[in-house]
Amino acid sequence: MSKQKIVVLTGAGMSAESGLKTFRDANGLWEGHDVMEVASPQGFAKNPELVLEFYNQRRKQLLEVSPNAGHRALVELEAHFDVNIVTQNVDNLHEQAGSSHVTHLHGELFKVRSTVNENHVLDWKKDLVLGDLDDNGHQLRPHIVWFGEMVPMLETAVEITQQADILIIIGTSMQVYPAASLINFAPQPAPIYFVDPKPNVASSDFHNLTVIPKPATEGVPNLVAQLTDSLT
Ligand code: APR
Repeated sequence: MSKQKIVVLTGAGMSAESGLKTFRDANGLWEGHDVMEVASPQGFAKNPELVLEFYNQRRKQLLEVSPNAGHRALVELEAHFDVNIVTQNVDNLHEQAGSSHVTHLHGELFKVRSTVNENHVLDWKKDLVLGDLDDNGHQLRPHIVWFGEMVPMLETAVEITQQADILIIIGTSMQVYPAASLINFAPQPAPIYFVDPKPNVASSDFHNLTVIPKPATEGVPNLVAQLTDSLT
């Protein structure tokens, strides 16, 4: 019998207990910055050094952190289910933990791309500065989807979500579109589990929704155990 398909949509809360700041919690990433200055094409055009330094700091921090029990539980899920992760996160903690199928909606910190060709992407773990050029002599930029830019992986993410037998949503405030709209593409019969200590949705908001008001390192392993036990 083929394995049931589980789609997992993750946000910054997934990585919070690994030590990476979320965006909108108290003391979050956006608290210290004007989003449009450090995460928009206009900001990059106006002050590229500021933007490059913002991502250099986050890239350095990512080199220091590790996956948490929530990331690891999602890997265990693969023993019994066909698991597809669709993440808003630009860290590589799902990959580090061993998840096999990860789609990044908002790009990846450990990649950079040409400023003139979004398909020219390079792996990059060190600082990125002005003068770091692609092989056609164009400035390189973070491979991050900035506010106001298209989300190239959106269609892929919708197609993945439409195949879900079960949808799990972890650690996202559901405030940024189009990522937040993915919940609407889960097939009607699919149960939806929402893991977040301060959930921004209520069980009554969506059909088949179960809210688990726990942090990822507690809520996700418990949910994985529950789903796995339900198979036996
Ligand atoms: N475990 C699970 N969830 C948590 C935890 C935790 N330990 N700590 C915080 N959270 C939850 C918060 O309650 C909140 O609902 O994680 C969510 C974080 O929300 P945001 O900071 O808005 O992050 P996210 O939803 O991922 O932001 C989406 O916005 O700024 C853009 O591109 C950026 O991808 C990002 C997008």
